[in-house]
Amino acid sequence: MNIIIIGTGMYVTGRGTGEYGTILPAITEWKRSGKPLSKVYWWGPNRKHSFEALQKAKTLQTITGVQYDIEVFPNKDGIDDKAYLQILNTLKQPACSFVAVPDHLHCEVATACIKRDLHTLVVKPLTPTVEEAEKLISLAKKNNVYGAVEFHKRWDRQNRILRDDYQAGKFGIPLYTWTEYSQRKSIPSQTFRTWVEQSSILQYLGVHYVDIIRYVTDAVPVKVMACGQKEWLKEQGLDVHDSIQCLVEWRTREGHHFIQTLLVNWIDSEQSSAMSDQKLKFVGTLGRYEGDQKERGVRLLYEDQKLEEPNPDFCRPYQRCDQTLEWEGYGIHSITTFLDDVNSIYENRIQPAQLEGSRPTFSEALYSTAVIEAACKSLQNLSSWQHMALAG
Ligand SMILES: NC(=O)c1ccc[n+]([C@@H]2O[C@H](COP(=O)([O-])OP(=O)(O)OC[C@H]3O[C@@H](n4cnc5c(N)ncnc54)[C@H](O)[C@@H]3O)[C@@H](O)[C@H]2O)c1
Repeated sequence: MNIIIIGTGMYVTGRGTGEYGTILPAITEWKRSGKPLSKVYWWGPNRKHSFEALQKAKTLQTITGVQYDIEVFPNKDGIDDKAYLQILNTLKQPACSFVAVPDHLHCEVATACIKRDLHTLVVKPLTPTVEEAEKLISLAKKNNVYGAVEFHKRWDRQNRILRDDYQAGKFGIPLYTWTEYSQRKSIPSQTFRTWVEQSSILQYLGVHYVDIIRYVTDAVPVKVMACGQKEWLKEQGLDVHDSIQCLVEWRTREGHHFIQTLLVNWIDSEQSSAMSDQKLKFVGTLGRYEGDQKERGVRLLYEDQKLEEPNPDFCRPYQRCDQTLEWEGYGIHSITTFLDDVNSIYENRIQPAQLEGSRPTFSEALYSTAVIEAACKSLQNLSSWQHMALAG
């Protein structure tokens, strides 16, 4: 199977960090497990960044001991922000695509991939608007293409405990759920500086826990309100919220209503001991769940370095017996599951429609997109409640 990756950023290969990102290590692990990977075609708009990404890919192949054919574009100097269309035109089936560009470009790039009948994984959020999400859902259906969103938290065992116990009825009727989720200041002010004003912290982090509540409860969001503050980032010349606080009212299949509170920011100190600080509570008439997804039990303190609390579960290299490294975690699992599903489709073992209900498909992602769009409207309208009319 051929793979095209569109985007050469932090999530694909750790741009701007000493790490290797998530998408490329996951493809590497898929190949290691003996799956039929033919070649990776990889595009970013900037030749210099694509070249740097290729160097990282080569190092990754050395340290993992996993080799495969990879070609980056553009292969001429300069910037070409539409050249991926030419690669799509010549890409040979069986093939699939990864869309890992800034949020506001997801719809345009995913549309081009699906029109070439490529099964497509889009990084979250699917799109910032319901109109775009609905277009992608119907295009994928029309072309019989599997479209999924890389909502990796669905593979996190902490969240799976919540889902399993909720679905077993152990929490009773849901009453409320609460999430606080934040990252360091450098993410909006440096890493995403060129496109951060076309996103928001709710769209970047909060959307994960909107999706998790959908995944856990199968409920439908009915109304949303949001407040936010623009202080520190505004001082840095960026017209974007430091923090957003959002209430979402959900309706379960049985007709019960419960409230989700989301408190998100991306102005945490650079001294924070983890990339992400995240907590989730869920309270029902018969029980309570509390998950701390920052303090997962590992603390590292070395001379001249700040305290570090790494997440051993998301996406991390571990040493193998032969000294090479292998990447493990729910970030890896989410992507290799997509690749396995695409392989099953090509081997006629499953149809794309059969993945509805068990995967973060485009249709599932409509709920989280509706919430972030409604929250954005609420912020623009004096924090008024925004109602949604989504089917269950
Ligand atoms: N960084 C993460 O941890 C993470 C996690 C999950 C999902 N995502 C999502 O992945 C997407 C990309 O995030 P990232 O972290 O790789 O970001 P990034 O800024 O590091 O990379 C974005 C990449 O998109 C490409 N691109 C195409 N057109 C562009 C344009 N007009 N302006 C800027 N870049 C353009 C470039 O190759 C660039 O490297 C976003 O939608 C983000 O929400 C990121």
